Amino acid sequence: MTTEPVVDQINLSDPGFWGLPFDDRDAAFRVLREQRPVAFFDEPPWPFLPPGPGYWALTRLADVIEASRNAAVFSSAAGSVLPDLPPEFSYLRSMIDMDNPEHGDMRRIVARAFSPAAVRELTGQALTLAHEIVDTVIENGECDLATQVATSLPIGLICQLLGVPRADWDWVRDRALVPYGRDDPEYVPRVLDEPERGALAVLEAVDEMAAYMKELADSRRARPGDDLTSRLVRAEVDGRHLTEEELAQWFILLVVAGAETSRQVITHGVLTLDRHPAQRLAWQQDFAGLGSTAVEEVVRWSSPVISFRRTLTRDYVLGGQPLAAGDKVLLFYPSANRDHRGFADPYRFDLRRSPNPHVGYGGPGPHYCLGAHLARHEIRTMLGVLFERMPDLEVTGEPQWLRSSAINGIKHLPVRFRPGRRRAPRASGW
Ligand code: HEM
Repeated sequence: MTTEPVVDQINLSDPGFWGLPFDDRDAAFRVLREQRPVAFFDEPPWPFLPPGPGYWALTRLADVIEASRNAAVFSSAAGSVLPDLPPEFSYLRSMIDMDNPEHGDMRRIVARAFSPAAVRELTGQALTLAHEIVDTVIENGECDLATQVATSLPIGLICQLLGVPRADWDWVRDRALVPYGRDDPEYVPRVLDEPERGALAVLEAVDEMAAYMKELADSRRARPGDDLTSRLVRAEVDGRHLTEEELAQWFILLVVAGAETSRQVITHGVLTLDRHPAQRLAWQQDFAGLGSTAVEEVVRWSSPVISFRRTLTRDYVLGGQPLAAGDKVLLFYPSANRDHRGFADPYRFDLRRSPNPHVGYGGPGPHYCLGAHLARHEIRTMLGVLFERMPDLEVTGEPQWLRSSAINGIKHLPVRFRPGRRRAPRASGW
């Protein structure tokens, strides 16, 4: 049994902390939740940036919900990530870094495309894609679930919604994974010794995606369709069309937010079900019946997004801790999702958990995940097809964790299954 960390020795700003196994990080968050739920940390050094002022870490469910809900005090306008991004990174800013009314004006442009009804219409396409993805590995009897299966449906569906041709999906995927992979040496060689390499890799990836969106938008201006890019190109906000920069920001927000998150829930889902065989069997035997509570529990359990930032517009007392105007706070979702004040027996993985007020998609408030319905659909579809075609799917090795303070990520997960037959003609693009 590991010993409990000492609260004064926990440092969420130590880059080494984010290279620890999940259970060690979780133990630290458990101590913070109980002993210092609103804890102040100095800011880690950021390549190319002057030192930041530090931040408060919110680790309890009630505080994360209060900060998400009270957007007038907990503002997003100064940025949704911890460092204040310099102008070179402007493509990474988007509606997630806005307050109302600007935020609402932007979000309304695409909101309908992510509604439950619109997502239901994607059912056929999602199923077809999920089967094609399984076809690419089913004959082999083994694969890396994280890279060969879990990424493809989320990236495929968001690309389809945006009107990205299928031949370009892999290209988009490789760039969409860079912003969250920037601190991991597998994605960015030598980043541990030279952290500025991570920042430069992000710049290169977002610049390439921005140039791609410019071409895509030009083609939709010439030949409008009914995809999201056409809708963004047509949209008017305050009587004007979106600028090239705003279009690029939309593209990058959607592919980055849509790719790494759902893929992680699918990967964590397979791993967690493997470790809880009785629950897995129950879900396999009653997939539809358990579906809605089960998907929410897998999202609570995996909590792929580690934190987002807010900045105080005025002095405020949160959880008994006085905070000052201008202070930064980070909302730690995985910690909130294991808070015993909100969840009975939070360390029990329970596919029937109800109620399940998790904040995996963010707390209630204006920035609650735009893609939540789409994500639920992706997770349910991919796990359902895996259950059907690989009923004996089995994890054969330890997961390899992504080194990241932003995403609770599994990079690789080796699995095996009885080899089966392909169903569809070989798909291009995977
Ligand atoms: C299980 C998968 C997902 C998880 C866990 C997740 C989680 C989150 C979280 C925590 C936030 C921030 C909430 C806040 O700041 O209050 C967020 C926002 C957002 N998510 Fe997701 N997300 C997922 C899937 C998706 C998908 C598939 C898309 C589709 C493209 C998407 C698009 C967005 C966008 C655009 C925002 C910004 C919303 C706004 O500022 O109004 N997400 N998501």
